[in-house]
Amino acid sequence: MTTPAHTTVGIVGGGPAGLLLARQLHLAGIDCVVLEARDRTYVEHRQRAGILEQGTVDALRACGAADRLDREGLIHDGIELRWNRRSHRIDFPALTGGRRVWVYAQTEVVKDLIALQLTDGPPLLFEAEVTAVTGAETDRPVIHYTHEGIRRTLTCDYVVGCDGFHGVVRSAIPATELRTAERTYPYSWFGILANVPPSCDELIYAHSPRGFALHSMRTPTVSRLYLQVPNGTDPDSWSDTQIWDELQSRFAIDSDWKLTPGPITQRAVLPMRSFVTEPMRYGRVLLAGDAAHIVPPTGAKGLNLAAADVIVLARAFADWTATGTTAGLDAYSGTCLKRVWRAEHFSWFMTTTLHTTPDQSAFDTHLQLSQLDRIASSPHAAAELAENYAGLPVG
Ligand code: FAD
Ligand code: DHB
Repeated sequence: MTTPAHTTVGIVGGGPAGLLLARQLHLAGIDCVVLEARDRTYVEHRQRAGILEQGTVDALRACGAADRLDREGLIHDGIELRWNRRSHRIDFPALTGGRRVWVYAQTEVVKDLIALQLTDGPPLLFEAEVTAVTGAETDRPVIHYTHEGIRRTLTCDYVVGCDGFHGVVRSAIPATELRTAERTYPYSWFGILANVPPSCDELIYAHSPRGFALHSMRTPTVSRLYLQVPNGTDPDSWSDTQIWDELQSRFAIDSDWKLTPGPITQRAVLPMRSFVTEPMRYGRVLLAGDAAHIVPPTGAKGLNLAAADVIVLARAFADWTATGTTAGLDAYSGTCLKRVWRAEHFSWFMTTTLHTTPDQSAFDTHLQLSQLDRIASSPHAAAELAENYAGLPVG
């Protein structure tokens, strides 16, 4: 496929943010082009997030990308927290006035959006690696990219960087115009996918003296589990038996609940980071999703934040093309950053409340356990967790 030399909105990156933005713009009659560095198979199989908030589901439905999600997605009304060998359920609808979440993997969201885009436009080029974006401060920013071994340019009215944390668009903004805030963590997540029905109906987040563990799922027959491990852990250094035994002991409670092991089909170690770039716009270059901000995964905010950014952005572009107003585009960064910082706090809170390290002080452990006890005993504390987890309103 070749691309035009000019487009209204040039989108760098065909992850969830870029694909959802393209679909929304297309339905609003705004032309755009998506350039994705990797091939289709890679993008469709990259194992990542698994939980969708109501706002994300609504946006996918509004752009006709939710048929399979509505058939196959698992609706969850709560999560279970475990600590000190006991458990407590957080009931989302009861605590939030009816909100809930969907278990539907990011891989499937991406597959659904790609299938729509390839049949119904706008152009989506795989293996089109963007090398630079120039002219951010002009009326015609330019995307420089390589496709099929040929160097090309795409002139745009606006460029949106949906190219993830390691993307190139952020560097089109002069460093003097950006402020960044960052935090790293002394642990990573060891994630596995296993061909075994989940041992629970709802997700389990477990605090244990041996470290954090999370039991999630992909389908009624595929489980997704995570173990906190030290940074730099080699996933192949653990045997399957070691993984299941460790999970079993971190989830242990005083009941006859048991984790059912099964064949592990994928394994990977994921580092964790909190990161925010401000502002999310410079001239005619805008950033969305992981290109602008990263959260540690505890609480499942990353994909939903990316979706929230592009929902706000698509509305702003629709206003601009309909009336010529740039008010929405001007407000984009401020609107999104308010939500981003809330999610940053929640993800940090979930991470630091639930993860333990061998060298942490007794004081820190007591603070964690006291906070978990408070969530179990106070509907207000539980509601605070539930509202953030189920997702705050978009926009
Ligand atoms: P991405 O999904 O990163 O998409 C960016 C796209 O841009 C990619 O397809 C990339 O190939 C492309 N790209 C990059 N550079 C270029 C270039 N130069 N030219 C063209 N294209 C380019 N969140 C959770 O909530 N739960 C999880 O369990 C979870 N696990 C994760 C595991 C990993 C390993 C990672 C990295 C993230 C995880 N996240 C998780 C976060 C969540 O997946 C992200 O927040 C979400 O993918 C953000 O979507 P995005 O479209 O902004 O960025
Ligand atoms: C999943 C990932 C998360 O980070 C989380 O908090 C819940 C679920 C998942 O991959 O299923």
